[in-house]
Amino acid sequence: MKIAVFVSGRGSNLQAILNSPELKNVAEVKAVFSDKIDCAAFNIAKNFSITTYSLGNKEGCLAYNDLAEKLKQLEIEFIVLAGFLKLIPNEVIKNYKWKIINIHPALLPSFGGKGMYGINVHKAVFNSSAKVSGATVHFVDETYDTGKIIAQQCVDISDVKSPEEIAEKVLKIEHKILPYVIFNIVSGKVKVINERVTVEK
Ligand code: GRF
Repeated sequence: MKIAVFVSGRGSNLQAILNSPELKNVAEVKAVFSDKIDCAAFNIAKNFSITTYSLGNKEGCLAYNDLAEKLKQLEIEFIVLAGFLKLIPNEVIKNYKWKIINIHPALLPSFGGKGMYGINVHKAVFNSSAKVSGATVHFVDETYDTGKIIAQQCVDISDVKSPEEIAEKVLKIEHKILPYVIFNIVSGKVKVINERVTVEK
């Protein structure tokens, strides 16, 4: 399956996808897109000889309006948002119904929505005194973090002393759950029946 990964920063989830032994033979990351001109994730892509595209209106960037056409041209079959901070244009959402997923570093539907990204999420979780947090992989719709949930894994945070400590624990889970979900999608084990998502065991 030909995949496009969308990133905005560090790219550790992109790295986890590229390093996954299960995904090696079944998923090809054909392109990496970012809302940034440059970001650490682009270096990871380049190490794997994957073409990168910066989105926006600046010179040399791909306009958001041209994204749908570019994805078609590249024959992208599936899209993974791995730390991408912008909204995906509606045309792309429509073209890729049930074919775009996002990883969120908390247990949705709590601690999601606009502005809830990166350390902001972990600060909100820390301040709430929640005793568990975790990672969620969900399908993407037109708004932030509201699509149907595919998989979640939680972690005990009852003893943590800082939001950063939560981030560290959750990131470890993210690196497992995201390749796991992609593998199950490629294997046809993720089913959507009457808008309810299940992963076949
Ligand atoms: C991850 O925590 C992801 O869940 C969130 O943004 C972070 C991206 O990290 N949406 P990385 O760029 O994959 O290292």
